[in-house]
Amino acid sequence: MKTIFITGASSGLGKATAKLFHKKGWNVIATMRNPEKETELSQLKNVTLLALDVTHYDQIQSTVKKALELSDIDIVFNNAGYGLIGPLESLSDSQITKQLDTNLLGVIRVTNAFIPYFRERKSGLFISTTSIGGLIAFPLGSIYHATKWGLEGWSESMAYELNPFGINIKTVSPGGIKTEFLHGSLDTGAKPEYQTMVDKMFGSVDVMFEMASTPEQIADVVYEAATDGKNQLRYVAGEDAKAFYKRRLEVGDEVFRSEFGKQFFGE
Ligand SMILES: NC(=O)c1ccc[n+]([C@@H]2O[C@H](COP(=O)([O-])OP(=O)(O)OC[C@H]3O[C@@H](n4cnc5c(N)ncnc54)[C@H](OP(=O)(O)O)[C@@H]3O)[C@@H](O)[C@H]2O)c1
Repeated sequence: MKTIFITGASSGLGKATAKLFHKKGWNVIATMRNPEKETELSQLKNVTLLALDVTHYDQIQSTVKKALELSDIDIVFNNAGYGLIGPLESLSDSQITKQLDTNLLGVIRVTNAFIPYFRERKSGLFISTTSIGGLIAFPLGSIYHATKWGLEGWSESMAYELNPFGINIKTVSPGGIKTEFLHGSLDTGAKPEYQTMVDKMFGSVDVMFEMASTPEQIADVVYEAATDGKNQLRYVAGEDAKAFYKRRLEVGDEVFRSEFGKQFFGE
C-alpha cells in the first residue's frame, strides 16, 4: 500500500485529496494544525492525523520523524497555504512575513526534511500546490504571487537537483477553487487610496470564480500527477487556469499583461 503525506489537510483541497487517496486505497498521513478538531478524516481507516504547522521548524522535524516511523512514504503533498490580498503599503511586516513563512518557506522546510529519506530510498515524489497565481499575476496580490511564483521557480530548480537521485518534484497550479480560501482563510489589508482598485479587483474575482473548480476536481489532478509516472513539472489545473495559461503562452508576457490588466482597469 502506498502512502501520501499531506499538509493543510483540515479543509479544502488538502482534505479532498486525503479523501480521494483514501478512496483509491492509499495510506494517508493527513497533517494539520489542529488534528483534535477533525471529525471526518479521523473516522477513516488508513488515515492517520498528525499535528503540523508548516511555520514551526521543530514541529516539522518531529512530525516527519513520527510519520516515517509509522510507514514508508511515497509522496509528499505540500498544500498548506492561504491568500494575502491588499496593496503592499497597507500590509504589516508581520502579515508579509507570515505569508512568506507559510506558503513559501513552509514548503521548502517540509521538502528539505524529507529529502535525505527519499535520496536514500532512491525514489519519492514531492507535489506542491502553487496556483495559476504562480504563472500570472492579479493586481493587489503581490506577496501571494511572490510566494507562488517563488514555488514555481524553486520547483523547477529542485527538479534538476533531485531527479539524478530518482526523486521527482511537481507543481499543481489551480485556478479558482471553491474552498475557504476567499473566506475564512484570506488575510487582507486596505488603504482608502486603493479602494476603487480593490472593489474592481474583487468584482472581477467574483466573476472569475464562477468558473472555479471544486476541490474534488483539483484533487483529481493531484492524483494524476501522483500516478502518471511522467517526468512532468507543471500541472495547470482547472478550466479557468488552463485558459489563462494557454493565452499567456500564445501571446507572450507583454501582450497578456496588457490584455489581462484591461479586465480590471478598462482601456
Ligand atoms: N482556493 C483557491 O482559489 C486557490 C487557488 C489556487 C491555489 N490555492 C492554494 O491551494 C492550497 C489549499 O488552499 P484551499 O483553497 O484548499 O484553502 P483552505 O480550505 O483555506 O485550506 C488551506 C489549508 O492550509 C492550512 N494552513 C494554513 N496555514 C497553515 C500553517 N501555517 N501550517 C499548516 N497548515 C496551514 C489550513 O489549515 P487551518 O485549517 O489550520 O487553517 C487549511 O488546511 C493553498 O496553498 C492555496 O494557496 C487555492
